[in-house]
Amino acid sequence: MITMPRIGEKAPEFQAVTTQGNINFPGDYQGSWVILFSHPADFTPVCTSEFMTFASLESKFDKANCKLVGLSVDGLFSHIAWLRTIKEKIEYKGMKDVEVKFPLIEDITMDVARKYGMIQPGESTTKAVRAVFVIDPKGVIRTIIYYPLSLGRNFDELYRVVIALKTADEFGVATPADWRPGDAVIVPPAGSCGVAKERMESKNGMKCYDWFFCTKELDKEMVMSKVLTN
Ligand code: BEZ
Repeated sequence: MITMPRIGEKAPEFQAVTTQGNINFPGDYQGSWVILFSHPADFTPVCTSEFMTFASLESKFDKANCKLVGLSVDGLFSHIAWLRTIKEKIEYKGMKDVEVKFPLIEDITMDVARKYGMIQPGESTTKAVRAVFVIDPKGVIRTIIYYPLSLGRNFDELYRVVIALKTADEFGVATPADWRPGDAVIVPPAGSCGVAKERMESKNGMKCYDWFFCTKELDKEMVMSKVLTN
């Protein structure tokens, strides 16, 4: 049976060998956000562009208390050789001498990939698709994104996802389409007619488009000071 993890559930547990030693997932990451992501294969071009980009952004994710963990169904020596090639030989879009410091899991048995629904046979039976799991400090899956083999991910979007999830948690709000820090946020639906009326009058700094759709300003510095320290 193929299992697919779901948003709101605990991240499935596993132990694995990585380029940075053994890990116990998600237990080793308790207290941090973590992005577990898979790529189809080492020594392939889209994956190389992704690893160079993600590694270049690692310190930015780290400042948001978000760790990165990669996975493919290749073995450890392939991972080590590929990451060494990236560091020593590849210059791409101004990125060079890129060192991937986050762990890259070897999963030759495909046990972890299967557990996380990363093997999607319509796309490939022998490679993981480009899966992204954003997991919170309590080990709960908060966002899942899957991309096909041919489509490189947008890492600015993954950063935006982490910041938006943390903002929602910290401020008890939701974030509208294309939200970025400094944009207005959505305040929860009104609980009573009185509140709804007040909202329609756009009091308390709120702007209402209808009774069910109200936003309020949330200062960028306030957002970043909260999400970069927790
Ligand atoms: C790539 O990373 O370029 C790639 C990997 C597997 C299949 C297709 C493309």
